[in-house]
Amino acid sequence: MKQKGLALYPGSFDPFTYGHQDILERACELFDHVEVTIARNSEKHGFFPTEERKRLVEACTKHLKNVSVAVFEGLLVDHATSRGAIALVRGLRQVSDFDYEFRMAFANRRLAPEVETVFLMTSEQHALISASIVREIHRYGGDISSFVPPVVQEAMTAR
Ligand code: PNS
Repeated sequence: MKQKGLALYPGSFDPFTYGHQDILERACELFDHVEVTIARNSEKHGFFPTEERKRLVEACTKHLKNVSVAVFEGLLVDHATSRGAIALVRGLRQVSDFDYEFRMAFANRRLAPEVETVFLMTSEQHALISASIVREIHRYGGDISSFVPPVVQEAMTAR
């Protein structure tokens, strides 16, 4: 059964992985519309510039009709309330994710109690994928084809 409304799926997406895609596809079944919300994070030195990350997420989500992609700066909850979002979707892979996610969800709830954080579990085959591991494997010339869609792999190789 679909819940009404817009959910944001926020993150760095540097790069977008099959794990992200898995969570996004699950969220698309639950909400009318899902916005992949890419943080423009000035503190982190990213692999891809934000606009390139956006282009890649768009390329990887063409097949999903109720998805859009946006970039935000500042507090996530400010963006969420300005967009009228009812939920923030975060993926959980393993227990070690939980501490950080728990703190972030409580901080966001205190700032904007009307926006619910929803955790979705990834498929088992994606439970060990993280963007940082993908970047590291790539840095040392390893094969990332089972972790990221082909368009992301091509873009990483081209950099
Ligand atoms: O993919 P990531 O890096 O785990 O995503 C983290 C992200 C971007 C969702 C988080 O850092 C974020 O929301 N940043 C924006 C600043 C903010 O709102 N911080 C308050 C929550 S603790």
